[in-house]
Amino acid sequence: MSEELLFQPSAAAIAHTQTTGEQYAAQYERSVTDPNGFWAEQAKRLDWVTFPKTIKNTTFEYPDVSIKWFEDGVLNVAANCIDRHLAERGDDIAIIWEPDNPADEAEYISYRKLHEKVCRCANVLKSLGVKKGDRVTIYLPMIPQAAYAMLACARIGAVHSVVFGGFSPDALAGRINDCNSEVVITADEGRRGGKAVPLKANVDKALQDCPGVRKVLVVHNTGADVPMKGSRDVWWHEAAAGVEPFNEPEPMNAEDPLFILYTSGSTGKPKGVLHTSGGYLTYAALTHEKTFDYKRGEVFWCTADVGWVTGHSYIVYGPLANGATTLMFEGIPSWPDASRFWQVVERHKVNIFHTAPTAIRALMGAGSDFVDKFEMPSLRLLGTVGEPINPEAWLWYSKHVGKDRCGVVDCWWQTETGGHMIAPFPGAFPVKPGSATKPFFGVQPVVLSPEGVLQEQTKAEGVLAIADSWPGQMRTVYGDHQRFIDTYFTQYKGYYFTGDGCRRDKDGYYWITGRVDDVLNVSGHRLGTAEVESALVAHPKVSEAAVVGYPHDIKGQGIYCYVTLMAGESSSDELRAELKNWVRKEIGPIATPDLIQWAPGLPKTRSGKIMRRILRKVAENDFGSLGDTSTLADPAVVDDLIANRQNRT
Ligand code: WTA
Repeated sequence: MSEELLFQPSAAAIAHTQTTGEQYAAQYERSVTDPNGFWAEQAKRLDWVTFPKTIKNTTFEYPDVSIKWFEDGVLNVAANCIDRHLAERGDDIAIIWEPDNPADEAEYISYRKLHEKVCRCANVLKSLGVKKGDRVTIYLPMIPQAAYAMLACARIGAVHSVVFGGFSPDALAGRINDCNSEVVITADEGRRGGKAVPLKANVDKALQDCPGVRKVLVVHNTGADVPMKGSRDVWWHEAAAGVEPFNEPEPMNAEDPLFILYTSGSTGKPKGVLHTSGGYLTYAALTHEKTFDYKRGEVFWCTADVGWVTGHSYIVYGPLANGATTLMFEGIPSWPDASRFWQVVERHKVNIFHTAPTAIRALMGAGSDFVDKFEMPSLRLLGTVGEPINPEAWLWYSKHVGKDRCGVVDCWWQTETGGHMIAPFPGAFPVKPGSATKPFFGVQPVVLSPEGVLQEQTKAEGVLAIADSWPGQMRTVYGDHQRFIDTYFTQYKGYYFTGDGCRRDKDGYYWITGRVDDVLNVSGHRLGTAEVESALVAHPKVSEAAVVGYPHDIKGQGIYCYVTLMAGESSSDELRAELKNWVRKEIGPIATPDLIQWAPGLPKTRSGKIMRRILRKVAENDFGSLGDTSTLADPAVVDDLIANRQNRT
């Protein structure tokens, strides 16, 4: 698909925007030439107990990497997300909660109600002995208590570590122990797609290996009969009924830790990414407002789980800091059927809808009929995040969900970056399907050759690094600062290394090609696996595709494709040949697939990320050591992949 495919902002987007193209350019320029002035101004969007005098104090210089923003400022994150809105918008809806089962009642939580819920939870945590700086692990489903618990921690200065409710007891135990949480917050059960998730039972199992945990606070959610352990387990609703509905927020230094979030482990044990208070919140709030061009009263729905960074920054902290209405969805896109998202959009008159390419592709694969019957007149803007989006999926999203009327913002960022780093400003400049477009304020992306040579010309290709700090940047790996330096600042000295490959086109637009370890080298030519995938998915019979490299005698690396067909399509050798030809035509002979394996399912983590490590191993015909597959949504997929592998040399 061509870099020339431009989507100009619609008249409606231009009329709505707070930032014109000229303003974007001028403010971006200021943000990188005068970061102290720019960010001092942006910090004013928060309420501070003490406004910071020192704004930026950062260095990427190896080995003395140190990142501090607003270091003498004092604030409380929860007070910024709740209390300061009460006077003017106490009755505005902070959270709309949509339950898993569409037959159940939705909940509408005003800022006033949120305040009471969070204060009570904060007081409960204090009564359990939680103090400023203590770590609290949160293992909850997508229910409002997840947000209450996060904000309650922030209110008393405890550091939360949210662990995705789909993780196994082992994974949970590892994360509890790594940060020495003494308190865990969970629920009797969760619900997803009509099925119960045994959270409390998982916690009970995990805690067999966590001697440090003293207390477990349990939400009465489904009402399932779960054993409560004597002095350890406490019912949330009982404890909350016995405490005051007011809690004075703890004044926190801007650089006090706010949360730890473990990144899913593809190698080694998961890293505890640590974010702090002032810089993170400034950045989450600003990116939420600008990237989504958010205006008061709009309903914002990000379909992520709070167990991932997208849920932290764009369900909880960014929207609430902005006094927005944020929708929290307990269910999944495919249950009761593939129209669930669109029912929810109509039911709650959602204005901004933000999801992941993997969901878009799955829904596209289920057929357009599920979405075409919904008009969704409230929708104004669509977002995509988490992986490169192939232009085919982008166009489908824009046409069938956006009805050719809504803009699409493709947001590139990482757990480590706290908020969007490369993303469009809707209404400010044209977008190109498949490109995350241009850097956010304060972000200085650079393209380096793999050897580390700075690519100065506009049109360039290489690895993506960032030349200077921004306020949302992670500060360290919890308990292992050396690992932080080794992972991000050692390979390319003086830069933050993202681990992603990218291309910058002649117009200065960034195209993320995927993790660098996913970039193939075929006969000496670099090729993004995302590019081949994109070409495959552009074929009308293909629903999803994943491409990896495997050792090839002549080319160095060969191209191995796992292909999931659209519902109702059947595989054949003819189709295999057709797809090879198709890709050859879409990209060029260099990209011709060597092997195509029909894959009814791809090995995905429960957050929807394809586990490429497994695909690479199977493609390499080396499946004896697949490593940990416990984080897969459906581990049985792997057996099918092995049985039908194409490379048996
Ligand atoms: C990938 C998720 C292309 C990228 C917010 C990054 C993307 C990793 C995009 C971080 C995007 C995220 N286009 N690739 N819009 N967004 N990625 O930490 O490889 O779960 O390094 O954060 O996802 O994933 P993480």
